[in-house]
Amino acid sequence: MSQPILSVKNLTKVYPNGVAALKGVSFDVHPGEFLVIIGLSGSGKSTLLRCLNRLHEPSSGEIWFNGERVDSVQGNRVRELRRELAMIFQQFNLIPRHTVLSNVLMGRLGSTSTFSSLMSMFSAKDRADAMRYLQLVGIQEKAKVRADQLSGGQQQRVAIARALCQNPKVLLADEPVASLDPATCHTVMDYLRKVNRELGITIICNLHFLSLVREYGTRVIALRGGELVYQGSPSEINEDWFARIYGEGAKEVHVN
Ligand SMILES: Nc1ncnc2c1ncn2[C@@H]1O[C@H](COP(=O)(O)OP(=O)(O)OP(=O)(O)O)[C@@H](O)[C@H]1O
Ligand SMILES: [Mg+2]
Repeated sequence: MSQPILSVKNLTKVYPNGVAALKGVSFDVHPGEFLVIIGLSGSGKSTLLRCLNRLHEPSSGEIWFNGERVDSVQGNRVRELRRELAMIFQQFNLIPRHTVLSNVLMGRLGSTSTFSSLMSMFSAKDRADAMRYLQLVGIQEKAKVRADQLSGGQQQRVAIARALCQNPKVLLADEPVASLDPATCHTVMDYLRKVNRELGITIICNLHFLSLVREYGTRVIALRGGELVYQGSPSEINEDWFARIYGEGAKEVHVN
């Protein structure tokens, strides 16, 4: 098997208020995987994603990215790491009054100098790349429209294009479809799969609905109370595992 692109070893996160959100989590992610993280609300899924790109500081343990230990790198390397591990969010986080194209170009800011960022000077190549990514997510005709005039599903596709503009190796997606209706869920998930398969970008995605996990995930890890309680194939999550992951008495809800 290939070398892992990410290797997490005994990761813990204790928030300043004393909440232990991750209690010694270990797993590997291999290049090209579409890894899904599941678990009840509060089990630590977002904390885990945010530790991976250092939006949150891990308390202890190790994170290795492409063979480099990154859990305590500082300064420019952290910024670079956030470029290499791009993130999309449940609420899309676009700048509402800016056009779709300028939102996507924001993905380039990390790799432009501060001066040219301030001047909003993007090269012809930057613009061509941004349009190419908009095309990949099927929304190039909206390039000049203000972001707040798009539907939720369209906004999330713009957010994916913006993340791609960072030239990431990994895309972290924190409940990317939780604010969308079931049909739109699938459209957005299909584009994530396209990004995964056509661009070879590794995806790590938090999801709530097991039906989506089974359809899109190549592998699953489950957290419960900050501990890793399952890793394996989505198809192996039977009723027994479901109860162990979500607790006795939990019922599966389907999204079609
Ligand atoms: N900034 C913070 N400060 C203190 N505690 C936090 C912070 N963020 C999260 N927590 C706590 O850490 C635990 C894990 O939270 P986290 O947001 O990672 O869970 P989650 O699995 O993403 O939940 P959800 O499915 O609701 O998004 C929870 O107990 C939460 O209250
Ligand atoms: Mg969360």
